[in-house]
Amino acid sequence: MGLAERRVGASADVHANQLSTERTIYSRIDGIHAATKPGHRAFRGISAAEPAPSGAGEIKLPPSASLPVFTGRSFGEVARMRRSALDFLGGMQSMSLAQLSAILAVTAQPFSADFAGARFIQLYLYAHRVDGLQPGVYRFWPERAELEQIGVKTQRVAAAGLSLGQELAGNACVAFSMTGDLERAARAHGDRGYRYVHFEAGAIGQCMYLAAEALGLGATGIGAFYDEKVNRYLNLTPEQGQVIYHFAIGYPVPDLRLRA
Ligand SMILES: Cc1cc2nc3c(=O)[nH]c(=O)nc-3n(C[C@H](O)[C@H](O)[C@H](O)COP(=O)(O)O)c2cc1C
Repeated sequence: MGLAERRVGASADVHANQLSTERTIYSRIDGIHAATKPGHRAFRGISAAEPAPSGAGEIKLPPSASLPVFTGRSFGEVARMRRSALDFLGGMQSMSLAQLSAILAVTAQPFSADFAGARFIQLYLYAHRVDGLQPGVYRFWPERAELEQIGVKTQRVAAAGLSLGQELAGNACVAFSMTGDLERAARAHGDRGYRYVHFEAGAIGQCMYLAAEALGLGATGIGAFYDEKVNRYLNLTPEQGQVIYHFAIGYPVPDLRLRA
């Protein structure tokens, strides 16, 4: 399939769905938006943040350089091919630990952005089908490229259930909770820190979209999840952070809207 041909049809017979006839105002969301603007009195500018907590896990990730990654495609080709998976093939096909390692290595790269002087996001994994990795829940420690198993639970059902019952989080090979250290961000940046944490989660998500695409996998960002239930499932105290974003990576079901 040629790259130039694979795109969502944009001809006159294709129309976007109208999801709602009216706009609902959520005043608390507008309030948070206003409170976290740079001009707001609580904005303290960029100051040095306390370092992110460091830790270790019992599973050392294999070097991702060993993988024939980004197979001959340019960045532009990969970026244009990237689409959100509607769902994932939930069968037996698994991804390799080297693929997972490559995706996680990408999330640990420094960002060239003013909001990213310090990192506030922590990745938790719900590993469903990764070769050589026992299904379960893991915490990723980026400095050491290690995974710490924090529980062998019914993680596949949990990943979908916690993601507002969206089955794609259970059908993926691996799903993620990104948690954000909002308190440390607020100590460094005032109320503006709330946005920086979300910027960082979004940037990590887009890096994972591209890495998954480059590796022949698919990905979907998941913004719909049960915050409090996720925090409880991961045993997070407020000092450790709160869930900000979910994500899933696996083998996408074919999207018939994409034209070959
Ligand atoms: C922050 C964010 C949250 C999202 N949340 C969901 C979600 O909860 N469920 C879902 O099926 N897709 C979700 N998506 C995928 C979007 O539906 C998808 O990105 C959008 O339709 C545009 O398609 P594209 O990514 O292929 O360009 C999310 C994407 C982003 C970036």
